Amino acid sequence: MIINLTYYHVANDVPEITPDIAVVIDVLRATTTISWALKNGANSIQVFADLDLLKESATKCKTDERIMLGERGGRKIEGFDLGNSPLSVTKKVVNGKRLFMSTTNGTKSLHRVQNAKHLFAMGLPNRRAVAEKIISLKSENVLILGSGWEGSYSLEDSLAAGALAAYLETNSDFEVNILNDELQASLALWEFWKNDILKCLKTATHGKRLTSLGDYEDDFKCCSELDCLDIVPTQVERGVIRAS
Ligand code: MLT
Repeated sequence: MIINLTYYHVANDVPEITPDIAVVIDVLRATTTISWALKNGANSIQVFADLDLLKESATKCKTDERIMLGERGGRKIEGFDLGNSPLSVTKKVVNGKRLFMSTTNGTKSLHRVQNAKHLFAMGLPNRRAVAEKIISLKSENVLILGSGWEGSYSLEDSLAAGALAAYLETNSDFEVNILNDELQASLALWEFWKNDILKCLKTATHGKRLTSLGDYEDDFKCCSELDCLDIVPTQVERGVIRAS
């Protein structure tokens, strides 16, 4: 069997297709936060591009059962319970709760491919879990989508796309077909940085942006940890993600 992999840097680059499998990556930090929130017992995460829609949906949920989280420009949204740090979604805070989330780029990418038959969110901590899920589904076409920053390329998402492709090449019995140069470049990026992921994240422009906003050292460490989570954040209905 062949598995065809294509990588797009940002949501706007994705053509009008309905992929079998779409994997959305936002290493810094949306998909890392989603993965940790689900690991820590969040009931579900509903993602929104539009803040008014988010607030409208959240108010339909009881106050003690919901959490509104997200950022704009890296900063917590005013009036929200949490920002977008994977460290903030502890068991104590999110266990059993329904999360309503909006971020500058990550949730837009999730929206862009919400018609996919299977949609997963991936950060570096759950790279292996998502890859094993893909292998188990035996689908031919996998679309990998980075989130970038406001329409432009991001180093850390491309690194993770390369990490996913490298895992599939090494660990699946399928012939893995790299369909575009963006993904070939990501594989090269992974080879170059795989032994110093933390440095790659801090070198990235969004890493530098976060550094300029405050002390994000622990976020960087959390987001750069590879294969430590067995969670596969999976879209169960449009815009709603649960653990599988
Ligand atoms: C995003 O969606 O753009 C990011 O997750 C931003 C962030 O680091 O909070």
